[in-house]
Order: sequence, then C-alpha cells, then structure tokens
Amino acid sequence: MSKMGAAVIGLGMMGQRHGRVWSELTETELVAVYDLAPERARQMADQYGCMAAGSLQEALDAPGVEIVSVCTDDQNHVEPCTAAAAAGKHVLVEKPLATSPHDCDTIIAAARGHGVRLMTGHVVRFDLRYQVAKAAIDDGQVGDIIHLYGRRNNILRSGRRIGPRTSIAYFLGVHDLDIMRWYVGCDAVRVYAESSRKLLTEEGADDTIFTLLKYENDAVGCLETSWVLPEGQPNTLDARLEVVGTEGRVAVRVGDSEPLEVSGPDRSWRPDIAYGPVVYDQQAGAIRHQLEHFVRCIRDEQEFIITPEDARAAVVLADAIHRSLETGMPAQLG
Ligand SMILES: NC(=O)c1ccc[n+]([C@@H]2O[C@H](COP(=O)([O-])OP(=O)(O)OC[C@H]3O[C@@H](n4cnc5c(N)ncnc54)[C@H](O)[C@@H]3O)[C@@H](O)[C@H]2O)c1
Repeated sequence: MSKMGAAVIGLGMMGQRHGRVWSELTETELVAVYDLAPERARQMADQYGCMAAGSLQEALDAPGVEIVSVCTDDQNHVEPCTAAAAAGKHVLVEKPLATSPHDCDTIIAAARGHGVRLMTGHVVRFDLRYQVAKAAIDDGQVGDIIHLYGRRNNILRSGRRIGPRTSIAYFLGVHDLDIMRWYVGCDAVRVYAESSRKLLTEEGADDTIFTLLKYENDAVGCLETSWVLPEGQPNTLDARLEVVGTEGRVAVRVGDSEPLEVSGPDRSWRPDIAYGPVVYDQQAGAIRHQLEHFVRCIRDEQEFIITPEDARAAVVLADAIHRSLETGMPAQLG
C-alpha cells in the first residue's frame, strides 16, 4: 500500500511532533512543511528530508500530499484549514478548531464543500486514562451523572509563552469542556465563569478561569484552569476529571500521581509518559495514537472519535466562558 503524503503547517511545539509522527508511521510520509518563520521549515526539512515550502499553497501542492496537519496558533487556524480543504486535502487541525463558533462554521463548511475529512486534535480523547473512564461510564458503572469536576493546570512558563496569543479557555479549557461533554452525553445550557489576573498582567491574559456548567440532563460541572503553577513543581501538568453519578464514581488523575519520577541534585520531576514521550527513538503516546486514528479512519472510511461538531461544541463553550466573563453573568446556550 502506498504511503499517504503529509504536510505540516505551523512548526512550533506541536507541528514538530506531528511532523515526526508522519515521518515515523508506516502508513505515512512527511512530504512538506511550512511556517511563517522560514528557518523553522528549513531546519525541519533538513531533519526529515522533506520540502521546506515557501508558502502555504506550495506546501499544499507538494506532490503526494493527501493529509495536512494545521498546527498554527489558535487564532490562525482558519486560513490554512480552508486552503487545505480547497486543495482537496484531509485536515487534522490542532485544538481548538478555531476561536469562535463562526470560524468553526467556516472551516466545517469548507471541509464539507470540498468533500474532505476534518478532525480536531483533542488529544485527551486518546489518553488511555480518559478512555478507560469513558468505557466505565458507558458500562453503567457511574449511572446517571450528577456532577463532574475537571482541572487542567499548567506551570507559569506555559502562561508566559501562550498567554499573549490566546486565552486559557481556548488553549487548556477546550480539552476538558470536550471531555466533560463526552462523558455527560449532552450539551450545556448555562455557563458561568470567574477569572483572576495577577501574574500575567504584561501578557494581558487571565491567570486562571473557574467555570460552572449546567447540562441539559441537570448534571452540574465545574472546571478549573490555570497556567500559573510554580515552575519548581515536579509535574508541568496537573489535571483531574472526577465524575459522580447515581451508581458510582470515576476519577482520573494526571500529574502528581505519575508513576515515574526522575531526580537530580536539586530537584525532581515527572516526565510526560502519556502524551508525547520519545521511546526507542520514536514519538509514542496519545499524540501518535491520535495521528494513527486520523489516517486509519480515512483509509477505512470510519467516523473519527471526535467529529467536527464535537470540536465546535467545545469552542461554543469556551466562547460562552468569555461572554460570561465580559458580562459578569451566566451565559445562556441553545
Ligand atoms: N494537543 C495538545 O496537547 C496541544 C498542546 C500544545 C498546543 N496545542 C495546539 O497546537 C497549536 C500550536 O501550538 P504550539 O504550542 O505548537 O505553538 P507554537 O507557538 O510553538 O508554534 C506555532 C507555529 O505556527 C507558526 N504560524 C503561526 N501562524 C502561521 C501561519 N498563518 N502560517 C504558517 N505558520 C504559522 C508560528 O510561526 C509558529 O512556528 C495551537 O492551536 C495549540 O492550542 C495543542
């Protein structure tokens, strides 16, 4: 079977990982890379022996390209996604799908209109812990969900790096807004949020947002997001998802319960073993599983685990969080 050619647009932290996986999977090959910063493309092209495209269109038109990873900043997803769709390429866009419901609609319409597949990289759906929790819920072990609590907190470096460009609701919150909706099985009807800004004032970003959600089935959700955790703590991500229902409870802990700890003379740290560890010189973990899923669903004409409507729904919730912060009132949905 011939390999599917891949192009990657946006070659920062995530673009480099996508590129690496496309070059390592047996079903795919990395054909072209493009970034607004040409030296990033040149460096990656040298590393993988692919084309350093001089423009978005050149990357999309590179011979053999069938799939495109869009890994640009959150607010720069629309143009590369719609251009890739217009060029007839299947699109895997990093989360969030876009930073407004309107932009989501533009991307979804472009994919539909040009008959290409569209998946958003909600990588937490490929984290085994969250998948097994979902299986327990589907198996009836929790019963009718009464309340959910999600947490996704990062260290301050993340807030300083990303804060000036996007919001914590779009960068971190969409992960759990999606997972909580996936677990509870319905949409939210009302969202109320509060934020605080003490450390990221120069970045013009909220340090933290706490959100309350009321769902169509009467369940209540609470989501904590922060990117100002102290640099010195051993895990860069502290995440939780706890679901309580009429029959039981399921709880996922990520970060402080990691089974691997490495210590040096001055400090200890807990390396990521779930999302993007490099093992035997290959990119492993949930990011790889997500990209494999994307390719196999295209090959086998199967539904993706995450549909464009799911990705849009997470953006609708992040948008509602911002509406609530602006007005100081709950934002109604639907
Ligand atoms: N799934 C996850 O766990 C996860 C983790 C981090 C980031 N992300 C998402 O991945 C995306 C990229 O994040 P990142 O941390 O890699 O960012 P980054 O800042 O490291 O890299 C972004 C790159 O995109 C390039 N770029 C921006 N606009 C462009 C355009 N129009 N055309 C071409 N290149 C352009 C920039 O020059 C930069 O090199 C974001 O949407 C982010 O939310 C997902």
